[in-house]
Amino acid sequence: MKRLHRAIALTLSGVLLTAAMAGCGSTGSAQDSTDRTIVRIGHNQATDHPTHISLLAFEEYIEDKLGDKYDVEVYPSELLGSQTDMVQLTQTGAIDFCVASNSILETFSENYTIFNMPYLFASSDAYHAAMDDPEITDPIFESTKKAGFEAVTWIDAGTRNFYTVSKPIETPADLKGLKIRVQQSPTNVEMMNLLGGSATPMGFGEVYTALQSKVIDGAENNEMALTSNGHGDVCKYYSYDMHQMIPDILIGNCAFLDEMPEEDRAIFEEGFALVNQVEREEWTKAVEAAKDKAQNEQGVQFLYPDTKPFQEICTPMHQSLLEQYPELEPIYEGIQKYNEQYPTDAAEGGTEP
Ligand code: GCU
Repeated sequence: MKRLHRAIALTLSGVLLTAAMAGCGSTGSAQDSTDRTIVRIGHNQATDHPTHISLLAFEEYIEDKLGDKYDVEVYPSELLGSQTDMVQLTQTGAIDFCVASNSILETFSENYTIFNMPYLFASSDAYHAAMDDPEITDPIFESTKKAGFEAVTWIDAGTRNFYTVSKPIETPADLKGLKIRVQQSPTNVEMMNLLGGSATPMGFGEVYTALQSKVIDGAENNEMALTSNGHGDVCKYYSYDMHQMIPDILIGNCAFLDEMPEEDRAIFEEGFALVNQVEREEWTKAVEAAKDKAQNEQGVQFLYPDTKPFQEICTPMHQSLLEQYPELEPIYEGIQKYNEQYPTDAAEGGTEP
C-alpha cells in the first residue's frame, strides 16, 4: 500500500509541478466538468487522523455553502508528495492548500522559528491561548506572503516526545550515541545535538522504514505517530520529556485567496476556523485512543522522566533566537504572559498518571 501511495504521489506531484511550470493560470486552479473551481488540499496524515477529519469537515462546509462554485478535494498520506514538496506546490499555485508542520516552515520564513523552540510553552493551555491570539500569530502567519503563501489557521499536533526501538530514555545522557530522526529544520537539528543524540533529519514518510531497518534508533513525535503511522510496532519506549509543542499550519496560495470574491473569502474564513475547531476536538479523543492502543496492543511502555534536565539544556536556545532575531522579542514576551497565566500543569504528560 505504501509503495502504491508513493507511486501515485510521484505521478500526481509530477503532473502538478509540470502544470505549474507550464504556467497553467496564476493560481493553478482547474475547473471540473461542471465548471466549478477545483480546490486541492494536500497533507501527510492517514485518513483516520484528526487532520484529515477536520479537512473533510472543511470540504463539506464549503461545498454546502458554495457547492455550485467550488469542488474541494482532500489528498491525504503524502499523495501529493512530502510536506516540503507540498509547500512548494502551494507556493506556485499548483495546489491551493496544504498542511505543513511549523518546523519545516522555518526554512521559508525565520519568523516561524519561534514556535519550534523547545520548551517554549509552559502548558497546553498556554500553547493554545498563544496560538489563538492573532497578535502573536499574525506577524508569523503573514510573513511568507511575498513567497506566495500564507497561513490560514493552525492545527494542534500535541506534544513531541522521544521514542526509541530498544533503549528507554530517562535522562538526556540516554540519548548519547543514538541516531534520532528529527524534522528537516535547523532548530530541531540543533536541539537534538544539544541533548546529546545524533540528529538525523528526514521526511515523515521515510521514518517507519528507517526505524524498521535500524538506520535510526528512534524518533520524536506525538503519540499519534505510534499508531496512525505504525511506529509503535517497532519502538517500544515512549518518554514524556515534553520537548516541543509544534503546531501544524494550514497554508494557502495567496493568489487563490486574494482573487476570490469577498463573499466567498468570508465563507472560506469560516471554513478555516472550523478546521481548527474540529481538529482540536478530534485531537483529544485521538491521543487518548492512541495511548490505549500503543500500550495494550503494540506493547509500548510509556515513561515519565524528570523533564527539568532536558529543559535546562534546551532553554539557552531561546536567548540565542532573540539575539539573532530581535524583532521576535514582542511575540516571545506575549507568549511569556500566557505562560504566567497558564503555568506548567503537573498532571500534563510529564507526570505518571
Ligand atoms: C507530526 C505533524 C506532521 C509532521 C510530523 C513529522 O505528525 O503533525 O505535520 O510532518 O509530525 O514529524 O514530520
